[in-house]
Amino acid sequence: MTTEAHLHIDGVSHRYGDQDALVAVNIGVAKGEFVTLVGPSGCGKTTLLRIVAGLLSPTEGRIVLNGADITSVPANRRPTNLVFQRPTLFPHLDVRGNIEFGLKLAKLAKAERATRIQEVIDLLHLGGLERRRPFELSGGQMQRVSLARALVNRPEVLLLDEPLSALDMQIRLELEVELRRVHREIGATFLYVTHDQREALALADRVVVFDNGSVAQIDRPEDVYRTPASAFVARFVGDANVLAGEVISGKDHGENIAAIHGCPIGPTRHEPGPCSVVIRAEAWAIGNHGSPDSLEGTVLDRVFRGSTVAYRVQLTADGQLVRAEAAAGDPPRAVGDRVGLSCTGEFVVIATMAETDSSQEGTSD
Ligand SMILES: Nc1ncnc2c1ncn2[C@@H]1O[C@H](COP(=O)(O)OP(=O)(O)O)[C@@H](O)[C@H]1O
Ligand SMILES: [Mg+2]
Repeated sequence: MTTEAHLHIDGVSHRYGDQDALVAVNIGVAKGEFVTLVGPSGCGKTTLLRIVAGLLSPTEGRIVLNGADITSVPANRRPTNLVFQRPTLFPHLDVRGNIEFGLKLAKLAKAERATRIQEVIDLLHLGGLERRRPFELSGGQMQRVSLARALVNRPEVLLLDEPLSALDMQIRLELEVELRRVHREIGATFLYVTHDQREALALADRVVVFDNGSVAQIDRPEDVYRTPASAFVARFVGDANVLAGEVISGKDHGENIAAIHGCPIGPTRHEPGPCSVVIRAEAWAIGNHGSPDSLEGTVLDRVFRGSTVAYRVQLTADGQLVRAEAAAGDPPRAVGDRVGLSCTGEFVVIATMAETDSSQEGTSD
């Protein structure tokens, strides 16, 4: 996605002093798309959002909107609005006054202001709260007002920097649903930053996974989850098991096989050699110790989660820890039981050559 992108982040790098915060970031966002940008704290998410908003100039690269280079256009002349983690409302103004503020600055006529204010009050279900001041609102209500204040300007691109992360889980889940609805109703392009991978997957049409200032993967949520491009993405999104293994060449020109400690996991198109094998907790079957083609281990702990039971199993061969999930109706295993693990679901092979973090194998817990 290059020329047809609504918003194109084109080769953007940023340095603070001699520290690289962003390194050659390329992201194309289609018109009306909801893209989430997710990565650990300090990986450059806010820096990128500020650059798109025009609050910070990139050291290198361009921001292109509708085909025009806007890199040097000041923030207040861009069709973008930024919503922050903490609501930034004026304490002395009521809800209506807060929403109206930007419209007055833009010198909109009174009738037009009234129409637009009513629109966002309806959109964000703020009816009845118009005369309240910020101290009379809950955290969730304040963040709705912040959203209303950004949307009343009818931005082409709405930028959101962890807008829900200061809220309780219950309110967060409610506002996630609201955000999806608002996005559908207004059809603007949303670029949403979060460090929470669950939220990133739940909200997005496409997810950008960030690792230390660079893009690690851009894909639909289900593809990021099912086919992570690296061990980093596999661990960060959904906390997958990343195990040291090898690809063994197939007999008689058959398919090559991925294996862990000689135990076959399944066929792969990768070339023979060392690899990492990504297997999610739900892809394991927990069988009896000594079952053929299974990895032997000992149950370290067991957590009952209602419909599933989560186990941690320590492999006998090398002490690596494996998370495995069983259905609640499966035969129960106790702490200390010796078991045999076999992969009955999806797995992903990542060539070890390209990996720089294989030293972390087995220590991610
Ligand atoms: N104004 C600044 N001056 C110097 N370093 C900064 C500044 N802002 C952020 N950084 C550094 O840049 C990196 C990226 O920060 P940031 O974009 O805030 O990450 P995130 O939003 O993903 O947590 C971090 O290492 C942070 O310490
Ligand atoms: Mg940040």
